Amino acid sequence: MATGFPRSVTESAPETANPDTAAPAAGPADDGTASTAALPATVRGLTKSFGDNTVIDGLDLDIQPGQFVALLGPSGCGKSTLLRILADLDREITGEVQVAQRRAVAFQAPRLLPWKRVWRNVILGLRGKPNRARAVAALEEVGLGHRVDVWPKVLSGGEAQRASLARALVREPDLLLLDEPFSALDALTRLKVQALVGELWQRHGCAILLVTHDVEEALLLADRVLVMNDGGIVHDQLVEHPRPRDVSAPAFVAQRAELLSWLGVH
Ligand SMILES: Nc1ncnc2c1ncn2[C@@H]1O[C@H](COP(=O)(O)OP(=O)(O)OP(=O)(O)O)[C@@H](O)[C@H]1O
Ligand SMILES: [Mg+2]
Repeated sequence: MATGFPRSVTESAPETANPDTAAPAAGPADDGTASTAALPATVRGLTKSFGDNTVIDGLDLDIQPGQFVALLGPSGCGKSTLLRILADLDREITGEVQVAQRRAVAFQAPRLLPWKRVWRNVILGLRGKPNRARAVAALEEVGLGHRVDVWPKVLSGGEAQRASLARALVREPDLLLLDEPFSALDALTRLKVQALVGELWQRHGCAILLVTHDVEEALLLADRVLVMNDGGIVHDQLVEHPRPRDVSAPAFVAQRAELLSWLGVH
């Protein structure tokens, strides 16, 4: 698996202006956020408050090149807040955050612009002339080669989520941030899109931070699982079962039980 890393800090600026999909301007910001990291993500002493509510409190985290990290934690513990900070969508923080210059985000809702055809959504915000071939290649990769020219409203939920993944991948990210990207999908579609993310990760070799509430999903996909609570990472565990993973293997079952207990489910 090619990791596509390390990349030089002199690399060209990210090709996007779309805050929903990818990276903002490169370079260190006054607030401690920087885009010139040696690792896909390095976080030191990150603190984030909304008024009196301190959601993230001195959080430390490193994500290695090509590593697939799943982030679990109770509702409201700050997972999406952390992801938004890593995506540079929220700069009102204290602490140090360094993230790969090339990063992309996909959310629970695909957030496609209804007035642009699917291929134009995929390359939205990329610099230069609209490159249809690039969009088509990304759409073919996610199994949407037949949906290139349709309007987003024509897509099923699973197809829209695939288009959202194509939009992220076309940016060739070193860090892909996924916030519950499967949670709005029906069970069967969810399994298919989940498998697709696993394949895309193996092919592209980018690091992934996947927020999920599903312990099994985390263990099926990730190299490493984090549990967030009380403003920090309270548990950090490698997942070393051979792939493809067998949910009934005793080691898998034991790790699932351990993670569930970290989440307060006994
Ligand atoms: N823009 C905001 N203004 C005020 N408070 C916010 C804002 N965004 C998030 N919060 C608060 O920060 C806390 C963490 O929210 P966040 O969305 O990060 O949680 P989460 O772990 O992603 O939850 P869930 O699993 O339900 O998606 C919550 O208490 C939430 O109310
Ligand atoms: Mg959330």
